[in-house]
Amino acid sequence: MSFLENYQQKGELLKVYTYPHPVLSKKSLPVTNFDERLKKLAQDMLYTMYKAPGIGLAAPQIGENIRMFVIDVEFERKKISRPRIDNPELIEVSYHLSNFHPRVFINPKITRGPELVKCKEGCLSLPGVYEEVERAATVTVEYHDLDGNLCELSAEELLAICIQHENDHLDGVVIIDHLSFLKKNFHKKKLIKRQKLTAAQNGRYLDGNNECNDDDEDDEDENENAAAEGGGNERKI
Ligand code: CO
Repeated sequence: MSFLENYQQKGELLKVYTYPHPVLSKKSLPVTNFDERLKKLAQDMLYTMYKAPGIGLAAPQIGENIRMFVIDVEFERKKISRPRIDNPELIEVSYHLSNFHPRVFINPKITRGPELVKCKEGCLSLPGVYEEVERAATVTVEYHDLDGNLCELSAEELLAICIQHENDHLDGVVIIDHLSFLKKNFHKKKLIKRQKLTAAQNGRYLDGNNECNDDDEDDEDENENAAAEGGGNERKI
């Protein structure tokens, strides 16, 4: 039985690469080996996506230029605040996730419906960016599952948008590539500045580690801020 049925949060937390890392701008290659390594990667990607939290994650975002992405637009996340056992004056915050509907898409081929919709999108690889992108309202996607079986799915609403957003990642396209030149440049500058700041902080606190990576805490803050700004409806894809 596939790990996708009766899904349990298991796996390894992967590093999520942020823009403008070159891995995000490359066109990814089709998957040809449907082996155990691929299953492990899908499992780790789902684990990383739920932890972030995000509703979708594409392989280039974790540094693998292969045509695979994972999605769950249905899971629920509940914040639990309780006094700490060792010091009841302090509040401990944790999150309980439930209602998992993980999906894995490999070598997807998308057919877009005629109707267009605009939706505000965020992305785990572009922290702090929430912009409206025009997408097809419905899609049909042909793809392989983890065993290499050919499948087909028709999707609408958030799932259709998420599939198009993730499919863009496989072609080296991110949300700011859909914006005007000026808007794209504005976000690009902000993201580069943010990355330099993170690198400098890492250098200071982690003794010379210059890699730019958001840790869990950062993503959490970012998400909370964005939720506060936009009424809490934004989800990262
Ligand atoms: Co994304």
